Amino acid sequence: MTVGVPRALRNLLLLLWTLLDCGLGGSAQGPGEWTPWRSWSRCSSSCGRGLSVRSRRCVRFPEEEPCWGDSHEYRLCQLPDCPPGAVPFRDLQCALYNGHPVLGSQKAYRWVPFYGAPNQCDLNCLAEGHAFYHSFGRVLDGTPCSPGTQGLCVAGRCLSAGCDGLLGSDALEDHCGRCGGANDSCLFVQRVFRDAGAFAGYWNVTLIPEGARHIRAAHRSRNHLALMGGDGRYVLNGNWAVSPPGTYEAAGTLVVYTRAAAEETLHAVGPTSQDLLLQVLLQEPNPGIEFEFWLPRERYGPFQAQAQALGWSLRQPQPREVEPRPPEPPAGPAASPPRTPTPAPDPCPPCPDTRGRAHRLLHYCGSDFVFQARVLGRLRQAQETRYEVRVQLVYKNRSPLQALEYVWAPGRCPCPPLALHREYLLAAQRLVSPDGTQDRLLLPHAGYARPWSPAEDSRIRLVARHCPV
Ligand SMILES: *[C@@H]1O[C@H](CO)[C@@H](O)[C@H](O)[C@H]1NC(C)=O
Ligand SMILES: *[C@@H]1O[C@H](CO)[C@@H](O)[C@H](O)[C@H]1NC(C)=O
Repeated sequence: MTVGVPRALRNLLLLLWTLLDCGLGGSAQGPGEWTPWRSWSRCSSSCGRGLSVRSRRCVRFPEEEPCWGDSHEYRLCQLPDCPPGAVPFRDLQCALYNGHPVLGSQKAYRWVPFYGAPNQCDLNCLAEGHAFYHSFGRVLDGTPCSPGTQGLCVAGRCLSAGCDGLLGSDALEDHCGRCGGANDSCLFVQRVFRDAGAFAGYWNVTLIPEGARHIRAAHRSRNHLALMGGDGRYVLNGNWAVSPPGTYEAAGTLVVYTRAAAEETLHAVGPTSQDLLLQVLLQEPNPGIEFEFWLPRERYGPFQAQAQALGWSLRQPQPREVEPRPPEPPAGPAASPPRTPTPAPDPCPPCPDTRGRAHRLLHYCGSDFVFQARVLGRLRQAQETRYEVRVQLVYKNRSPLQALEYVWAPGRCPCPPLALHREYLLAAQRLVSPDGTQDRLLLPHAGYARPWSPAEDSRIRLVARHCPV
C-alpha cells in the first residue's frame, strides 16, 4: 500500500503539527491527518447513470483521535444512455440467483426486481410466477434506488446528488446560481411599482437585465402584467390581447404565468439570456406591483443607472387628458345640468332628455349599481369615454365597489355628459367580458346620471321601494 503524500512531507507535517501543538501549550491530542484523495474510480455502470468513488486514509499516532470527515466520497457519473433492451443493473443482480436453490428448498426460481418492499436499497427479488419475494441483502453500490428517480444506492442507503455532483452532500445552488454559495455573489432587487397612472395602456414597470435569476412579479388588480423580450416582441399580454395562464419560453428560461381570482403572478428561475421589459397593462388604478429578482453584482450598477435615467423610480410622463378646472362650483348643488367644457375640438350633439320619475325608476331598478360619485378624470377614446370616479355613497350594489372606479360610457360624446370635479348620482351596469378578463362599470347611453343634490338623494331613496320584485 502506498501513502498519497511523500513520506518526507508527511513527517514534516506531523512535526509541524507537534510543534504547533506544543507551542500553544495544548495537551489535548488533535485528530489524525488525511492523506490526499486518491483519484476517482471508473463509473460503476457502463451506460446511463452510475457512481464513482474515491477514498483517503487517516494517518495518526496511536494517541491521536480519528480524522474528522469521511474516508469515501461518491459522485454521480453520467454516461451515454443505455441501448434499448439493455438489462438494467438491478435486474442483472436478481438474475444472478436464477436457478440457484434458495430458501432451504431445492426448487429453483427465476428472479426479477420487486419494488414494493420497504428498503429500496435491498436486493428484493420476486420469484417469477410466484407470489413471494426474497431479499438477497443490499444491492451493489450505484444501483438506482427505483426506476425514474435520481437517487442511487450507496452502502444500502438511497442518496441523491447535491449540486456539486457528490452523492449525499446536500449541497444546494444559492439564488445567485453558485453551488453551496451564501447568496453573496449577487444582489437582490425588490421593489413595489406604485404608479397611479390614469390612462389605460402599457406602462413600464422595470427592466429585468440579462443574467437575472429567481424573478417574481405579482399584483392584485384587474390590470395585467406584460413581458417584452429584448427584440421588442411581447412574450405575453402584448398588443392588448390577454394571454392564457401557462408556461412561456423567454430569454432562455421558462416564465410561469398564473392568474387566479384576485392575483396575477409571473415567475422565472432564470438566468435570463437577454434583457426583459416588465410592463403593466393598466385598466384601473394601480394598487402596486411587487417585483423582485437577483442580479449578478456587475449588472447592478448599470441597471440602477438605467432605471434612474428613465425616471422609473418616479412617475412616468402621462398622456392624460388635461382639463381646465371649472371656474367655481355653482352655488346650489341642484343647479342646471352640467355643460361640457369649452372649447371642445368637435362639439358634441345635444343629448336626449333624461329627466322624470319614470326614467329614474327604470334605471334604478334595472341597474347593478347606484351610487354617488365625484368625477376625477376623463379619457376620451374613439369608441368610448372613461371616467375615473371616487365612489362616495352606495345606494345599491350587486358586487363590491372600490373607492376609485372607472365608469365607461359609449362613444366620445356620452349622454348625459359628466363634468370634471362634479358629483353625480349614477346608475351603472356591470359588464364582464366572456373570458372574464374585462370587468367594467358601464353607464348606458341616455342612462341615469344626475348632479347630486339633497332633493335627488331623497327621490332616489324613495324609488328604491318601488322596484318590481
Ligand atoms: C438565499 O436566499 C433565499 C431567498 O431569500 C433563501 O431562501 C435561501 O435560504 C438563501 N440561501 C442561503 C444559502 O442563504
Ligand atoms: C419603456 O421602456 C422602453 C425600453 O427602455 C422604452 O423604449 C420606452 O420608451 C419606455 N416607455 C415609456 C412610456 O417610458
